[in-house]
Amino acid sequence: MTAAERQTINQISRKIKHDSTNESSGHDWWHIYRVWQTAIKIAKEEKADLFITELAALLHDVADWKFHNGDESIGPTTAKRILVSYAVSSDSIERIVDIITNLSFKGALVPNTITSLEGKVVQDADRLDAIGAIGIARTFAYGGFAGHALHIPGQKPVMHQSKKDYFLSQGSSINHFYEKLLLLKDRMNTNAGKRLARARHRFLEKYLQQFYNEWDGRC
Ligand code: NI
Repeated sequence: MTAAERQTINQISRKIKHDSTNESSGHDWWHIYRVWQTAIKIAKEEKADLFITELAALLHDVADWKFHNGDESIGPTTAKRILVSYAVSSDSIERIVDIITNLSFKGALVPNTITSLEGKVVQDADRLDAIGAIGIARTFAYGGFAGHALHIPGQKPVMHQSKKDYFLSQGSSINHFYEKLLLLKDRMNTNAGKRLARARHRFLEKYLQQFYNEWDGRC
């Protein structure tokens, strides 16, 4: 990567940090920071282009669709505007915007449309942040934001058929483990991502076991 490219990444990271400081739903700056750092780790191992990977990671949630009434074009449009303002080449912009457009998890049965290596890396990094200790914390933080119960014994998880069903779900936070978190291990794209996901998945299973034991007063 050239010094100018490194400078562009630093400038855009400062902008995103500034703009996302007031997010409280789990899509705050620190989510973006973690995805960025994990994406760098995976990209190095998978030999993906770091400039494209890092910018796509930094911009991947720039206007998350869940918080804009389902309008998915806002994220890619905003990302493009930022990249143009920092004089990123049109070829790179096209690659980064393509990743952001196709990245989001929108339900268990909605097919994945990511094709580039860099997109696969960023998607793995984003998914890794949804599992393990951080993933658990984010699930309950989002559940609180959306007014969902922690756990409703007997409520069955729902495999969402569309983006809309997923968005409108009123299931408990514990059900979200079965509707999303526990599915992610088998949806990783890269070998590095798969390895990291296995460890975080084991932690989820251990957590659920303890949760149910405590729920029923068994320990
Ligand atoms: Ni994200």
